[in-house]
Order: sequence, then structure tokens, then C-alpha cells
Amino acid sequence: MYYPEELVEEVRLKNDIVDVISTYVKLQKKGSSYFGLCPFHNEKSPSFSVSRQKQMYYCFGCGAGGNVFTFLMEYENYSFTEALKVLADRVGVELPKTEYSREAKEKAELKTVLLEINKLAAKYFYAQLKSEKGRAAYTYLHERKLSDETITAFGLGYSNKYSDDLYRYLKSKGYSDDMLLKAGLISADEKHGAFDKFWNRVMFPIMDANNRVIGFGGRVMGEGKPKYLNSPETPVFDKSRNLYGLHRARTSRKPYFLICEGYMDVIALHQAGFTNAAASLGTALTAGHAALIKRYVKEVYLTYDSDDAGTRAALRAVPILKGAGITAKVIRMDPYKDPDEFIKNLGAEAFEERIQKARNGFLFSLEMLERDYDMASPEGKTAFMREAAARLAEFDEEIERSNYIEAVARTYRVSAEELRKLVVRTAVQAGLAKPVERPKPTAGRDKGKEEGILKSQRILLTWLIEDDRLFGQIENLIRPEDFTEPLYHTVAELLYQQREKGTVNPAQIMNHFTDEDEHRRVAELFHTKLPKLSTVHEKEKALKETIIRIKQYRLDEASKSLDPTDIKGLQNLMADKRALQRMKELHISIN
Ligand code: GTP
Ligand code: MN
Repeated sequence: MYYPEELVEEVRLKNDIVDVISTYVKLQKKGSSYFGLCPFHNEKSPSFSVSRQKQMYYCFGCGAGGNVFTFLMEYENYSFTEALKVLADRVGVELPKTEYSREAKEKAELKTVLLEINKLAAKYFYAQLKSEKGRAAYTYLHERKLSDETITAFGLGYSNKYSDDLYRYLKSKGYSDDMLLKAGLISADEKHGAFDKFWNRVMFPIMDANNRVIGFGGRVMGEGKPKYLNSPETPVFDKSRNLYGLHRARTSRKPYFLICEGYMDVIALHQAGFTNAAASLGTALTAGHAALIKRYVKEVYLTYDSDDAGTRAALRAVPILKGAGITAKVIRMDPYKDPDEFIKNLGAEAFEERIQKARNGFLFSLEMLERDYDMASPEGKTAFMREAAARLAEFDEEIERSNYIEAVARTYRVSAEELRKLVVRTAVQAGLAKPVERPKPTAGRDKGKEEGILKSQRILLTWLIEDDRLFGQIENLIRPEDFTEPLYHTVAELLYQQREKGTVNPAQIMNHFTDEDEHRRVAELFHTKLPKLSTVHEKEKALKETIIRIKQYRLDEASKSLDPTDIKGLQNLMADKRALQRMKELHISIN
């Protein structure tokens, strides 16, 4: 649904960002901004700022930032439309009713019904567990050392011994067989008609990130096959895009997740205070999971089973996580099978120690590789080091590769220099690198220079919104096209347009971007740390230097890319260069 921009803006204006964020984060006024502990990363001293004037938030620690919509999108994991609806509701703005296509409407309705059915089923299973019929299941959970509080927190339940009681219950609520089949809660065949899928099992409702029940896992009590029975995938249950326990882990405020294999592991970890634990839903970790995790944390501790299958699963997960930009560490559970048993036997403190001792994912994979080689013989160790070098050669980033070469050299007591040579040789043989790494001084310098220019562009934009008197001084000197980075250019254009119409309104600028990452970058742009300048003279001088640097860079870039036959372009460039020369002699006054 497309909402008109004026409406979006009305909702934003009526929802003061300080008021909204205060309901989530404790804020304290400091200078012209409010500060609190950042809800997007773990920290002890507040670097999360909210500005009433800018109507933006920005964390100087982790770089999270945006306007009031972005905040709800990031904090509550809402889509833009969801955030808009909640904020419109909050201030009594009525949004036009959505006009869906018939197909989209039917799909949305189907999902709503399936979620209703799942929720009812979860309540039913929970009531069964608490009833006399659920005594055995209740005892089972107690024997597995789960407290009442934990059972309630995870909404555990029991599907009893009748083969169709859930079916009859849901029918009594008016749902059709067709819907119940689609929800994956019943099966049907000609001989028996409809019957419950889950029968005499302890039930684990599976929630999505927004606390909605999307499916179930059911465990036999004691021995029996299959040990776990899971809901099939349905329109609301996509195993590759959800994680068990994520709805709780995402609010844990720890900077990393503990990813394990089993439902019971997640629950045992949460009960022991490790509220950042989650598990994939009986499947291997996929790139979809990694992308989901990346929305919340940048680091994962894998705490898989100690057996071969668990080790292999961890080894496979490491590169998948790395592919999504997540660093992985591996926690060993030996001599126990899994986190649940580890904690039951050794307790939370011992687990915390294992977290501290977690192995870096790459080094762990080498450790596992050792098993394939006779490390006691020189030939064996050499062959092993060759394989290690081949893996080291795959790091794209030079600094990362170099750090790992040193770590591996230390671990296996070989010379870092020798190992480095071996890595280069291996890379050459594999065709990954050019034989001689020619130094590229200009490229390196350019990169540093470009970053410096971008910083100058950010400084100027922050300056302009914090002190709009500057606009009057510089708008003839610097134009939006002088901002060479595309995002900054767009922002500058919008800012200049606003200025022409009267007042600058940076938070509104975000309405033009749809992506949370863009919001983050716009917020960053408007929160650039300005140089500390005490006198007006210093400020004027810095402003002038910044403007000249930006202009000069743009002209240099323009000359480089100018087509020599483009006479008009050449004339413009010459005129610009003369203007720059004049600018250098000009006095910029900010009073
Ligand atoms: P507990 O014995 O209850 O402690 O199980 P666990 O949590 O240690 O699970 P295990 O390591 O045996 O399996 C890990 C996960 O794989 C479970 O949480 C399930 O999601 C899934 N799983 C285990 N057994 C089965 C099975 O028989 N069928 C299916 N479909 N999934 C299973
Ligand atoms: Mn277990």
C-alpha cells in the first residue's frame, strides 16, 4: 500500500521522537540531546542519543540511527507500514483502508486464520498440560529440570492421548477441515477421516520474532520414534526464516547470539540466564537464518552437540555465517552431549567459562582438520600446513588474512614468515592471486583521501542542519552536486529544497528512503562529530577549509572524467575553478 507523503509526514510530526523512544529507553537530557543506553547493542555508558530538534536518534557506539519510523522498524522488527500504522494509531491519525488485490487479500486472510488456529492450539495444549490428563507430561518436564516459570514463559504444552480431541476442539470454534489441514495440525485419510497430527507428546510452540505462534514441535516422553515431530511448513511457518527462541533472544541486549541445535537446549539456556540463545528448527543453518540473525547481532557462538554430527554442523555453519558478515565462535560441550546436559551437570557458571573459552570458528575448523593428519610426523604436519595455507589463502581481506596467518603460526608453532610464503605460493597455484603483489600506493592513498572528503561532506551537512544561518553564507558556494557520494547528494538536494521553502527538516528527509540501512546512513550523516572550535574565527576558518576541500575534490574529479571534446563542459569547469580561486580569498562570516 502506498500512503501519500503528506500523511506519512503528519504521522511523523505528531509523534515526537523523544516521547516515543522514552517508552522503550530511559533517557536523560544532556545539552540539547537526550541520552540513554543503546537498545541495539550492549553497553554500560550511554552513547545512544535522541534529538528533539533533529527528530532523530543516533548511537555513537554502534551507528544505529534514523527517525521515529526507523526506531520502531529496528526495535520491534516492524515493516515500514507496520510502524506507520502503530504510530498513526498512537496519535489518532486515520489511515486510508488498504486496497489489496483479491489474491493478496486472500493470502493475508489465510495467514491471519492460520495464526489464529495456531494460537488457539497452543492455548489448548497448555491447558492440557495443566490439567489432570497432562500429569505425566508435567512430570516429564519437571524431571528435565524445567521450572514452572520456564514452562509458562515458553508456553509448553501437552497433546493428549485422544487421537482427535484437538480436531474436535478447533472444529467447535468454527474452522473448516481445509483450514485445519493447511495449519498442519491435522492429517486425514479415507480410512480414519481427520485426526490430530500430534498425539501424546510434550508440545513446544514455535514463535516468530513478533511472538506469534507459527508452528509446533512435539517430543515423545521417553523413548520412541520419531523423537521430535514438527509442524510441516505452512504459509506462516517457514523453517529457513525463523529460529526457535528468537522472540526472546532478540531483546536480550547481548551483542551476540548463542545458536544451538535443540529446543530443549534453548530452553535450558534461557532458564540458566543465557537469554540470547536460539536454535534452527530441526534443520541445518542456512543463509536465510544468517540474514535473519544479522538483523540483530554481528557475532554468533555456536553451541552444537559434541558428537560428530554436531561438529560437522558447526563446521558448515561457520562459512555460512561469515558469508552474511557474522563472526562465528564455537563452544565445546564435552564431556556432555549438548548445552542442556552440560548445564544440568555443571551449571551456568561453567557454561559461562566455556563461552569465555570459545574457539574462533576458523581455528576450530583447523583443529578438526588435524584429526585427518598424523601431526606427530613431519610429513603429516607439512601436509596439514599446506591445507591450512590453502584455507588461509581464501580470506579476501589482507589484514584479516594476515591476522589469521599469525594466529595459526602461533598455534602450530611455525614461523609466521614461512607460513605467509606458503600461503602466497598456494594462492598463486590456485590462481587466486597475482604472482607478485605490486604495491599500489596511489590506490591506497586515494582511498584514504576519498574517506577524508566524504567526512568533510558529512561535517558540512551536519553543520548546515545544526546552524541554518550557515546556509545563507554558503548556498552560493556549495551546491548539492558538490556532494559526490550519491546518498549525500540526494540528501543535500532535499535539504536545499527545504531551505528554499523556508525551514530545514532533516527527519523528513528520511521519508524519501525506504531502506533501514539508508536511514542509518542519513542519521550518521547528520550526527557527524564537528571539530571542537571555540572562537568564531576558528569556526569561520574551518568552515572555509571544509568548503574549499569539497569543491576542490569535485572539480578534480570532474576534470578527470571530462571528455576533451566537450567544450561547454570545459568552459564550465574553468568558470568553477575561477570561482574556487575567488573563494579562497573570500572571507566567510558566520555572524
Ligand atoms: P532432547 O533429547 O529432548 O534433549 O533433544 P535435543 O534437544 O537434545 O535434540 P536433538 O539434539 O536430539 O535434536 C536437535 C533438534 O533436531 C531437535 O530440537 C529437533 O528440532 C530436531 N529433531 C530431533 N529428533 C528429531 C526427529 O526424530 N525428527 C525430526 N523431524 N526432528 C528431530
Ligand atoms: Mn538434549
